[in-house]
Amino acid sequence: MIKIAVLVSGRGSNLQAIIDSIENGYLKAQICVVVSDIGDAYALERARKHGINAVNIDPNVFGSKDSYEEEVLKVLKNHDVQLVLLAGYMKILGKTLLAAYKNRILNIHPALLPAFPGLHAQEQAFRYGVKVAGCTVHFVDEELDGGPIIVQKCVEVKDEDTAQTLAEKILEQEHKIYPEAVKLFVENRLRLEGRKVKIIR
Ligand code: GAR
Repeated sequence: MIKIAVLVSGRGSNLQAIIDSIENGYLKAQICVVVSDIGDAYALERARKHGINAVNIDPNVFGSKDSYEEEVLKVLKNHDVQLVLLAGYMKILGKTLLAAYKNRILNIHPALLPAFPGLHAQEQAFRYGVKVAGCTVHFVDEELDGGPIIVQKCVEVKDEDTAQTLAEKILEQEHKIYPEAVKLFVENRLRLEGRKVKIIR
């Protein structure tokens, strides 16, 4: 069974969606470890509640991004991790992790990339006045929120929406498409062809 690590920084609702998908049998995989750069991230608590190893690695203790990521990498290697999921992990990945897990790191982003990369994407989209917003699961490469796209889902923006209600609608879809994308990876049904990801049906 494929061994997964999830990197988190916050409340961990996407982590929860992955945990639930494993527990209900939708995903045949095992989360070996959850790593957070933030000590009091609620995501760590969620992991522990499900008997999953939960580790805080504080970047401030390290002199550089490289040495911090070397430490993260050590934890991943100790758990024989084969796939890394970013789930609300708010640090930009450096070359250490990218090189060690090339094409084996996925991320969920709350916008229809390449629109609205970076922070507060839902609010950016709302302020811009888009009629359709959404979320994206993609491979992670050196470009911020720029890697090949695996799955996207859109939601309609209604006149009565606020930034808050829009973010909630997007989050609901995130919780569906992240497990879907992970399932495709786990079942070896993704083929990378340059920027494009072909899905074997
Ligand atoms: C999610 O909306 C996720 O898409 C977003 O952070 C939130 C984390 O929520 N990620 C990014 O913005 C990454 N650029 P969660 O901790 O409840 O999963």
